[in-house]
Amino acid sequence: MPDLEALKRQAAVRAAALVTDGMRVGLGTGSTAKYAIEELGRRLADGELKGIVGVATSEASDALARQVGIQVEPLDPRPLDLAIDGADEIDPGLNLIKGLGGALLREKLTEVQARQLVIIADHTKLVTQLGEKAPLPVEIARFGFLSTIERLRALGLGGRLRQPGAQPYLTDNGNYIFDAAIPAGTQPATLERTLKGTLGVIDTGFFLGMATRAFVAAPDGVQELSP
Ligand code: A5P
Repeated sequence: MPDLEALKRQAAVRAAALVTDGMRVGLGTGSTAKYAIEELGRRLADGELKGIVGVATSEASDALARQVGIQVEPLDPRPLDLAIDGADEIDPGLNLIKGLGGALLREKLTEVQARQLVIIADHTKLVTQLGEKAPLPVEIARFGFLSTIERLRALGLGGRLRQPGAQPYLTDNGNYIFDAAIPAGTQPATLERTLKGTLGVIDTGFFLGMATRAFVAAPDGVQELSP
């Protein structure tokens, strides 16, 4: 059984090596992105890197970045040089499903402004078709969420409201998440357009045509992929 944490870290270290002095960097969220933030902190502390600014995609990544000594600023309209983030599924064209960690909206708002979006993952995230293994997280407004879920079901989507405990999961933006099961053969771009036109839907975990590169770690090494 390969040590997935070690693989995630290997991919993260490769991506963090792309960051150079003075860059504005989008900081992803999740168990893989965490290693990239830690590695950037290590490079700053060791004097390998200077003057970078991080833009965090979640409260958790914001807190971790500050803890490891990265200067964090809010997102503004300027482009980011680079963003580094994990993914839940990666297809051969580097289209992604993201958001199992709950940060999809801030991730998309940040990463769409990045000149380069570098995805880091272990090999279990590779799929031939999005939706093969993971549900599609759909961020929905709290107000009227049961009606929104009815609308999603009417589109033929299975799945359920994310509810890890007594209460539904709440995103950093104060919204809920519906984890949608995607019917086999679904065209992601078509479903994305339909979902974005559905009342109550704020955004989806589809990141289509956004990633510019990926580092995917397997027991036999780290593979670099491009779309
Ligand atoms: C956070 O909301 C997500 O988009 C993560 O980037 C994604 O879930 C991958 O997370 P892990 O690196 O923890 O698998």
